[in-house]
Amino acid sequence: MRKILLLLFILLLLLFSCNRRSSSAEAPYLVLSYADNQAVDFPTSRAAEYFANLVYERTEGRVKILVYPEAMLGAEASVFEQMKYGGIDFARFSLGILSDYYPMFGVLELPYLYEDSEHMWRVLDGEIGDYFLEYTKEFQAVALAWLDAGSRSFYTRRPVETLEDFKDLTIRVQETDLMVDIIERLGSVAVKISYGDIYSALLKKEIDGAENNLPSYVHMGHYVAAPYFYLSEHFRLPEVIAISQSTIEKLNAIDPAIMDVIRECAREAGLYERKLWAEEETAALETVLASDCVVTVPDQAEIERIKEAMRSVYDDYLDYSDLIERIRNQ
Ligand code: GCU
Repeated sequence: MRKILLLLFILLLLLFSCNRRSSSAEAPYLVLSYADNQAVDFPTSRAAEYFANLVYERTEGRVKILVYPEAMLGAEASVFEQMKYGGIDFARFSLGILSDYYPMFGVLELPYLYEDSEHMWRVLDGEIGDYFLEYTKEFQAVALAWLDAGSRSFYTRRPVETLEDFKDLTIRVQETDLMVDIIERLGSVAVKISYGDIYSALLKKEIDGAENNLPSYVHMGHYVAAPYFYLSEHFRLPEVIAISQSTIEKLNAIDPAIMDVIRECAREAGLYERKLWAEEETAALETVLASDCVVTVPDQAEIERIKEAMRSVYDDYLDYSDLIERIRNQ
């Protein structure tokens, strides 16, 4: 009798392990791509790896995401185009290029929109931030979560101290008409150049300067080529993790619950990136201060003059004045 029971037990064990093997063999296994144009150790790329690991764990290995940093899959605008037909599954984008794709995002690109970083996060972490993410559901790439990218300031090859010094300077901008329009209100000549080409454009003296956040200024070596940093903080352009609409369809066909997991992981990766960002900003500032760079901190009166010069761009967004008012009052 004991032998029979033992045999039955072994049989059951075998049956159970066969079942498990066959169900995991059936489990779909997707390998998806994720593009970032920053270096592998930059906060956004590290957050991308974090996101990929979370998704892998929480889908029990069914979804594996391979991260391609350093613009390996192309410059941001080209990545967005590729996402439209599912050539790339995920990407991290700067808000600076998104007004071309999501018109309403132009509102978030307006200069001096927020008082400070806390103000921006009150907006993005609240109903308004969700409203903007929700809005992208209609497009071929859908934004899932926000990442930090600090504030953007100008840096040039020659000193800049007042608004007048911007006149006729050739400044590189992100590749949208809105960016050209805003920067040209200072009297500068704005040139669209992709992120990876700024350094050589500075060295070849094709441009007098550019504008970006401190970590990018340092990571890309721009601080060597354009050592005059002018702390204007004219933009706060956060970034998003986006997914291609055709990847959403692919995932939904397998299991609609996976998209919930992905959204949750993207939000967590965003929070993780914000911590890394704070550390990176401090480190970048230390590098700049220890270098030969000259940092100019304009006084409030000078900032007000820059604001005033850029202010008329808001007139092009009168259709969104209620929304802008709500953002301002957060
Ligand atoms: C930031 C952002 C990049 C973007 C760049 C730019 O560095 O993180 O994704 O490409 O700005 O100015 O183009």
